[in-house]
Amino acid sequence: MAKYLVIGNWKMNGNLSRSEQLVEDILAQLPVLPTLEVAVCPPFTYLAPVAKRLRDTAVKLGAQNLCEHSAGAYTGEVAGPMLADFGTRFVLVGHSERRSLYGESSELVAAKVETALECVLTPVLCVGETLEEREAGKAEAVISSQLQPVLARIGSSAMKRVVIAYEPVWAIGTGKTASPQQAQDIHAFIRTSLQQADAWSDDHSRLLYGGSVKADNAAELFGQADIHGALVGGASLKAEDFVAICHAA
Ligand code: G3P
Repeated sequence: MAKYLVIGNWKMNGNLSRSEQLVEDILAQLPVLPTLEVAVCPPFTYLAPVAKRLRDTAVKLGAQNLCEHSAGAYTGEVAGPMLADFGTRFVLVGHSERRSLYGESSELVAAKVETALECVLTPVLCVGETLEEREAGKAEAVISSQLQPVLARIGSSAMKRVVIAYEPVWAIGTGKTASPQQAQDIHAFIRTSLQQADAWSDDHSRLLYGGSVKADNAAELFGQADIHGALVGGASLKAEDFVAICHAA
């Protein structure tokens, strides 16, 4: 497994031509590094053309969400097997925007993680505290409350197959990045928490940092012992910025 995983979360941005061009530009500029694994998460509507272009390349396909059910009368939802149809490898689960804007509870997130694993997708479980929670000294408690329902639902063995993305809400889209030490402290807390639950594998578990990752801060973040990559939002929408972050790995 590559030492670093960098995932681009395009969120609800772009159109068909810009998505196709972004993939072309990323593929044209991306370094081939044995230590680096890269994935992009386009909006659902562009999964097919992006998947087609990524075929036979080293860049993996990701999705930004999935339904906790795998089929049925769930209007507007997208099921894990449908994502798997396109060769999707990763799926973001519990992104803070899903939690805050769409009311996703940690129990619902846990069900989505379980479904992703059942569909042979690698869940990227997003956790993180708000500024108010951090300033109240509750960051670790909040993150534990987001991890525990998942661990309880899928068990410690399966948890080792879940990528965890620590995304402090106050750093998402704000340009205010957590300091490398702040990020490392929380990543170390997550690792030790999972180790204590026998839910950590030194060979498979990965902790990504997300929240205003840019070309000029990526190297210092990646230099931290428990940071194994990044979940990149805004900077993933420009190939040169995204590739510069990948170069830091
Ligand atoms: O999922 C990644 C995203 O939440 C981070 O966004 O724009 O701060 O890199 P951004």
